[in-house]
Amino acid sequence: MASGFAKPRVAILISGTGSNMEAIIKACRDGRLVADPVVVVSDNPGAPGLKTASRFLVESFACPYRRGAPREENEAPVTALIKEHGADWIVLAGFMRILSPNFVRAFPRRIVNVHPALLPAFPGGHAIRDALQASADYTGVTIHIVDEFVDHGPILAQVEVPIYPDDTEDSLAARIHAAEHDLYPRTLQQLFFEDV
Ligand code: GRF
Repeated sequence: MASGFAKPRVAILISGTGSNMEAIIKACRDGRLVADPVVVVSDNPGAPGLKTASRFLVESFACPYRRGAPREENEAPVTALIKEHGADWIVLAGFMRILSPNFVRAFPRRIVNVHPALLPAFPGGHAIRDALQASADYTGVTIHIVDEFVDHGPILAQVEVPIYPDDTEDSLAARIHAAEHDLYPRTLQQLFFEDV
């Protein structure tokens, strides 16, 4: 008999590798995250993550952004896919576009992001490099609700990641990614079911 329980439906937005996307899909498949990854959307048609999504039999789409077009125009097909797939949550996993205020307002407190630093430290697109260049002893990972500002909004979870003296950008990135892959699915599970 049907229990009447519907799993939260998740749209995942990516631009590149999609390793966080993969970690989230795997967590859904093995029950650590009780959710359905219903669609993956990329602004970048060449994103390797699109192939990975297909491998996991998650519907995936490229919505290439047109250079110089208004942000809302570029976002329209993304919004349409999210709505068509009935997504309850939008999970940004390395989505390298700034969302328009209209997009954010269309899904209030329903968009989540992962950032490779301890926000508010090192916002922006080069957070790992910036932390290294600042000779910081540690950096980390932040999971947050997205508001209308870049790398900003209520913080859901953070974890510190040490920086070692011989770290390169690659070695630090690998440590940060491992922390993201652990923290992101766990935080989503809490968000969906414990109202963090
Ligand atoms: C991650 O480090 C994430 O914090 C940042 O972009 C990167 C995406 O990596 N926003 P991947 O595509 O999930 O491998």
